[in-house]
Amino acid sequence: MINVSKIKKGIVIDHIAAGHGYEMFKQLHLDEIEDVVLLLRNVPSHKKGKKDVIKIETDLDLDFTILGLVDPHITVNYIENGEKVKKEKLTLPKKVTGILQCKNPRCITQFEKVDEITFYLANEEKREYRCEYCDSRTKLVEK
Ligand code: CTP
Ligand code: ZN
Repeated sequence: MINVSKIKKGIVIDHIAAGHGYEMFKQLHLDEIEDVVLLLRNVPSHKKGKKDVIKIETDLDLDFTILGLVDPHITVNYIENGEKVKKEKLTLPKKVTGILQCKNPRCITQFEKVDEITFYLANEEKREYRCEYCDSRTKLVEK
């Protein structure tokens, strides 16, 4: 296998389901930052067989709440002086704007163009969000 170097300082997004790293890279707009970014695909993993990993060498405090929507199984590691100093499991964001679509066929957002619909977390265990317009619930799809 290629030598995947450890980083000195920054953030490692680990255990991304194989094939979903690129989508996540785009959602986080990592093409827009000036720091060194590595997107690793199909890395061998004990737990999953294969996984994707993103490594960002940065001083920035990036917001990853959105990642819980994409895949609740990923872990975010914070690295300082070449050592992992913190590991975060993701939880679902309480409020999500501009990402989810309402699935209720009678919702006004199906007829009128609404750019940024806000959804509120209704049931964390069931991964359900409530539409701000019609109150109906939308379940996140598991990856
Ligand atoms: N990592 C890195 N640079 C470092 C330290 C760690 O890029 N200086 C990466 C590792 O390659 C790994 C992730 O950060 O992808 C987590 O590191 P570590 O905690 O050492 O690995 P595991 O123990 O396997 O983590 P887990 O228990 O989450 O599987
Ligand atoms: Zn709705």
